[in-house]
Amino acid sequence: MNLKTLDNLNLEGKKILLRCDFNVPFDLEGKVSDSTKVERHKVTIDELIHKGAKVIIMSHLGRPKGKYKESLSLGKVLNVFAEKIKISQVTVMPFCKPDILKKVVDDLNNGTITFMENMRFHPEEEQNDEDFALQLAECGDYYVNDAFSVSHRKHVSTYGLSKYLPTFAGRYLELEMRMLDKIFNNLNKPVMAIVGGSKISTKIILLNNLLKKVDVLVVGGAMANTFLSAKGFKTGKSLIEKDKVIIAKEILEKAEKENCKFILPTDVVVAKDIDEPNSIGNVNVESVDSDVSIFDLGQRTVEKISNEMATCKTVFWNGPLGLYEKEPFDSSTNVIGRTAAILTKSNIITSVVGGGDTVAALNKVNLTGGFSFVSIAGGALVEWLEGKILPGLEFLHKS
Ligand code: 3PG
Repeated sequence: MNLKTLDNLNLEGKKILLRCDFNVPFDLEGKVSDSTKVERHKVTIDELIHKGAKVIIMSHLGRPKGKYKESLSLGKVLNVFAEKIKISQVTVMPFCKPDILKKVVDDLNNGTITFMENMRFHPEEEQNDEDFALQLAECGDYYVNDAFSVSHRKHVSTYGLSKYLPTFAGRYLELEMRMLDKIFNNLNKPVMAIVGGSKISTKIILLNNLLKKVDVLVVGGAMANTFLSAKGFKTGKSLIEKDKVIIAKEILEKAEKENCKFILPTDVVVAKDIDEPNSIGNVNVESVDSDVSIFDLGQRTVEKISNEMATCKTVFWNGPLGLYEKEPFDSSTNVIGRTAAILTKSNIITSVVGGGDTVAALNKVNLTGGFSFVSIAGGALVEWLEGKILPGLEFLHKS
């Protein structure tokens, strides 16, 4: 690992550009529905403040495509930030260029926080623009990356700043990397991976890699529909990626060659209309009518996965298994989450869950505390597991 950490750094009076990940989920009323991401950075922020630094917090929220968008203002996260971080001296910056930021931070006291507006409002951020990186770097003495979950992006606030400023790993990034390294580099077998979510297209490399490494691979969520279609089952009006059916077939064949047990749903929860309880039912995959859609794994499938899990030693989970935002389609995610938590508590398995949606789904039913490690990283964790070198981690290693 050999990371450049905050150990032994004299931070008194130093201006720290700190990359956090406050890209939190919102409920239908526009309120933050899960604050895990904010809470995770507290340990780093507290240490920097305690050591007398002037902390400039950078984050993104959503994908505003380089333009100011009120609905994606980080102002929406401020209440949660104040509640969770509990630090009174916070200056909230409006959306502005780095020269304005520089004037403000130069005048601040030690042990204070400056909270910047959504970094992705600047088109230069995602372009990893050199001039923008340089101007921003002039506002700080050090750059600290605490956001493993955004480290797969080659942006100014995750990568570009490292060219101009001494770069260090924040405490949460450090913890996340140590835990993932410990678990995935010394895998205790048999290993089960559960991959859910809506699109197989975003997880093809991950699935191909996992089937070489794990003993049991479970696929759920809407992406399972594409696999069912590849096996010749009718999926009614369900979401499927027609252009990925051939890839799904290839993945199934590879899994067989690698002796990886591939678990797909054998029964599913379907509905004509998700708001109409009478139209909801549990059916075998052979009997999905043409006028219904699949929204969750069925009961027998859930039982099968739970039983299989009990024979494993390590379980990795990324992606919800059904439409978890709406009852009763959260059932498989909840039941399998409970099984994993019980097996973890009994020291039968080591369990890792990753990704904002999966964490939000399990938090909804108070289950995240039952896992060995909960990573807030989704895409970054997937790319790390694929064996890619993440740009945001490149400059964090001691030479
Ligand atoms: C995440 O939610 O996985 C991170 O915040 C990264 O967000 P992004 O996919 O928009 O870069």
